Amino acid sequence: MKRLPVLLLNGFLLVFSFMNAQERKVLIVNTKERIAAVQPTMWGIFFEDINLGADGGIYAEMVKNRSFEFAKPMMGWAILQSKKADPQLAAMNPPVLVVNRRENNTANPRYIRVTVSNTSKGDLGLTNEGFRGMGIKKGLRYDFSFLYHQETAGIKMYAELTDSNNTVLGGTVVVPNESGKDWHKMSAGFTANATVMKAKLNIWFEGNGVIDLDMISLFPSDTWKNRPGGMRADMIQKLADMKPGFIRFPGGCIVEGFNLENRYQWKKTIGPIEERQLIMNRWNAEFAHRPAPDYFQTFGLGFFEYFQLAEDIGASPLPILNCGMACQFNSAEVAALNELDPYVQDALDLIEFANGDIATKWGKIRADLGHPSPFNLKMMGIGNENWGPQYVERLKIFTKAIKSKYPDFRLVNSSGFAPDGTLFNYLDDTLRAMHADLIDEHYYQKPEWFFANARRYDNYPRNGPKIFAGEYAAQSDHTVSVNNKNCWLTALSEAAFMTGLERNAAVVNMASYAPLFAHADGWQWTPDLIWVNNLQSYGTPDYYVQKLFSVNKGTTVVPVTLNNAVVAGQDSLFASSVIDSVAHEIIIKLVNASGKEQATLIQLKGVKKTSNAGVATVLRSNDLYSVNSFDEPEKISPRDVPVPVKGKEVNFGAAPYSLSIIKIKLLR
Ligand code: AHR
Repeated sequence: MKRLPVLLLNGFLLVFSFMNAQERKVLIVNTKERIAAVQPTMWGIFFEDINLGADGGIYAEMVKNRSFEFAKPMMGWAILQSKKADPQLAAMNPPVLVVNRRENNTANPRYIRVTVSNTSKGDLGLTNEGFRGMGIKKGLRYDFSFLYHQETAGIKMYAELTDSNNTVLGGTVVVPNESGKDWHKMSAGFTANATVMKAKLNIWFEGNGVIDLDMISLFPSDTWKNRPGGMRADMIQKLADMKPGFIRFPGGCIVEGFNLENRYQWKKTIGPIEERQLIMNRWNAEFAHRPAPDYFQTFGLGFFEYFQLAEDIGASPLPILNCGMACQFNSAEVAALNELDPYVQDALDLIEFANGDIATKWGKIRADLGHPSPFNLKMMGIGNENWGPQYVERLKIFTKAIKSKYPDFRLVNSSGFAPDGTLFNYLDDTLRAMHADLIDEHYYQKPEWFFANARRYDNYPRNGPKIFAGEYAAQSDHTVSVNNKNCWLTALSEAAFMTGLERNAAVVNMASYAPLFAHADGWQWTPDLIWVNNLQSYGTPDYYVQKLFSVNKGTTVVPVTLNNAVVAGQDSLFASSVIDSVAHEIIIKLVNASGKEQATLIQLKGVKKTSNAGVATVLRSNDLYSVNSFDEPEKISPRDVPVPVKGKEVNFGAAPYSLSIIKIKLLR
């Protein structure tokens, strides 16, 4: 990354001059003037299955291609044979045959048939490489399971985890003993004896006979809330720790798909996992420089699980549905207008699935899945990042159908992929004329843009549609560059910008950084909020910025001024403030984007009494290019420092390149 000796941002000299370094800036917080309520949804999260976010990420399944439905049926698998068989004989009688029953089972057509002839353990087996290996933890139980069918019993199976030296890390022996026409499920657990970052699963066959296998699966037992077949707990905990106001799912471009056939269809993601029809993940082949040919969506993590996750972490669910348009960066395929009904029906049915009484068709399905009470869905996005008149004409059809049945239901509308320009202006004007509820704006821009746009919303109309800053992230290099880093400069610029979002909570009702997760060995897009490998996860500096804003969101915005003006870049300072009427606190978010400490005097107007002990949570680094990593996951992370309060005044030194969350208790 190119280092900049000084940063000139739209006329703001970020390196604070030596002359006035000691001058105290007087910041006035007026608690009597209530600017706006902070919506409970203000700070949320954007989840997409990109960068191995779902499969290979939060969905804790360890077996890749468990149902043999990838484009190459044996991708992720290899056949193990101790003796070299005559190739022609093996071709005549393959020990492992991929069978397709498409006529009877369109959702999960393939399975494998294993033929075993007088084999002993080690003669014939299968190995699965996992998603970039399998992260195995010493002392943890693993649950191995599969579906099988056999005419006659006679085969014993050994499932074993091994490391790269073939050292066995734990395993189990199973004897499938049901026979006949039906498929049966078999499960067995075992404990691992070592911690290994990239293990694999071997399955050895012993005996005589023919067995059909499908849905070969391995899950760790330490999933989120210990749910069998659940989610990776360390990753979900990072989300829960943010106390997000909402969770947007399932994306992102995967909503749209490369073409309409590959769009996300929520109805295909609920119910028994063996009936959820897999599709290619649209990030599989998006970037030639980051190919991911093994990236598919198994939908083990589907819409029921998303709603459940939202409920678990106290976030309002925000599903985004396909609007009858495939990704306009790809095929730009659109559904014919007279064939839009199924798309619209999906939206209506989703509302019933989430909220409907159990006497309704979709409410009953939800109840049968184990959740009789409603999920309290209040909003939905129509289209992801769509644009142009083709979007508007489809959006109008959706809006009419949804609003006539559910008048209070709020719809999120797209303003395209950029925060300005012809496409943006066209949609912004059109959506305002349509009285949109929420307009979704996206900005993947340089840090300079974020600093310079801290006042973006100061003059947005207060009475029109509300804004959802639905996807944003500062790009240290440029959008989709592989050199983008989640460094302190990107995070600091986002913090400065977010003070502008908070100050404008009257119009900005929701905001989320994107993308959320990235696997170190499987990413397509950077920067990302949280990085993971098979065993660890860490929050970037950007993560801590998001978290600090979210856990300190307060309830009401009050003004903070410097020389009678909003604090949005003067002397490289940015600030916003809120009252938390539940915790009885005043919370000031102060960004010092200069390389020098800045002395401030914060005067609290309109307060009766304060506690004399405040606290500041400070996120900082002297090196703007510094990053967190698996080795130093908390290199840039928040630290609390005491802040003495004298009556209604606080002297606070804002550290160089810092975000400070200053909290002062209000006494009655
Ligand atoms: O966040 C990555 C991608 O950026 C999203 O999928 C898409 O909506 C945007 O273009």
